[in-house]
Amino acid sequence: MMIESFNMEDTYNLGIQLGEQAMAGEVYCLLGDLGTGKTVFTQGFAKGLGITEAVNSPTFTIIQEYEEGRLPFYHFDVYRIEDIEEMYELGYEDYFYGNGVCLIEWSNLIEEILPEAPTVITLEKDLEKGFDYRKITVESGK
Ligand SMILES: Nc1ncnc2c1ncn2[C@@H]1O[C@H](COP(=O)(O)OP(=O)(O)OP(=O)(O)O)[C@@H](O)[C@H]1O
Ligand SMILES: [Mg+2]
Repeated sequence: MMIESFNMEDTYNLGIQLGEQAMAGEVYCLLGDLGTGKTVFTQGFAKGLGITEAVNSPTFTIIQEYEEGRLPFYHFDVYRIEDIEEMYELGYEDYFYGNGVCLIEWSNLIEEILPEAPTVITLEKDLEKGFDYRKITVESGK
């Protein structure tokens, strides 16, 4: 499906909606250039899972875990990854194939280890439609 977002709240609300529907074992891949709203979406998604704690993209940690919601939530931001080895070191398989929900910002940087059939969410700007406009595509893996 394709959704048009006209401001930050639209993107946040889409995140809430998908977070409410998320199921154990699912992996969500977030694609989009810098500043397209991946983290805004993630914040809504966490809210939809029932997480009240603040969610941000940590600068020097690849993964942030949240246990307070309806399901364990594993937020990856792999923007700063330099070697795929870093994913093995943090034991990514336990997360990807576990019973929580994984969401990965910049998943294109770790393509070789992504599980089969993730849900892929792509955020794109279109400046002709305004500075805050985002086209968001959600492709369900199933
Ligand atoms: N429609 C929109 N949806 C989401 N964010 C928007 C929208 N319009 C404007 N913004 C602004 O764009 C910025 C998106 O920032 P965000 O950190 O979520 O991007 P990001 O894709 O995670 O970037 P990065 O790759 O650096 O992590 C925020 O400052 C937000 O206020
Ligand atoms: Mg981000």
